[in-house]
Amino acid sequence: MIDWKSRLAGRFVVFDGPDGSGKSTQLQRFTDFCRAEQVEPVVVRDPGGTPIGEAIRQVLLDPRYEEMELRCEMLLYMASRSQLMTEQIQPALREGRFVLADRFISSTLAYQGTAGGLDPDEIRVVGAVATRGCMPDLVVIFDVDGETAASRMSSDLDRMERKGGEFHRRVRQGYLAQAEHDPKRHLVIDASRSEVEVFDALQAGLASRLPETVV
Ligand code: TMP
Repeated sequence: MIDWKSRLAGRFVVFDGPDGSGKSTQLQRFTDFCRAEQVEPVVVRDPGGTPIGEAIRQVLLDPRYEEMELRCEMLLYMASRSQLMTEQIQPALREGRFVLADRFISSTLAYQGTAGGLDPDEIRVVGAVATRGCMPDLVVIFDVDGETAASRMSSDLDRMERKGGEFHRRVRQGYLAQAEHDPKRHLVIDASRSEVEVFDALQAGLASRLPETVV
């Protein structure tokens, strides 16, 4: 028997991946699973997760702002994240809660960095300000090929989803490069499989990567 309570208490885990990877579906499944295991996670989404962050999110995803400049975009994602840290993530971790985030700075490195062309060091410097140096214990990357990802997206695309196949191919490479650079902090899951198969792999991966907390 796996003692999930002890593995998840006080931990900060991020689910991330390209658009159409199915990460939000897996996040919902894992949230339900946690509750069944008597763990009530603090689930947050980035960008968003606070009233200010949700307002920033609307600006970021609005297709009318096609002209948004890359650094403006990066700073808005970071601004939303900063508010999320103060209002949600830091208080929850201080209370020893399990925090589960739908995206985090790994998205900025993949989308604005590898795919967009911003210097990753520039992103990390601003990221350290936004997050106060609080990094996730584990980033789960739901990896999916472009064709499968495109087939999972709705036809009503937001500003980021409209950036095209080549951009999203670089996004995927950006995630894989992060995992390769820091394998201890990343868990890559092949998300091209069925929902149930992906969830089984997720559960097994988390069990092996999150040791029980020794009290
Ligand atoms: P979502 O689809 O997971 O809600 O994320 C919103 C979009 O914003 C998605 O296309 C990924 C993108 N994004 C970035 O470009 N940079 C970031 O830092 C984050 C958090 C998301």
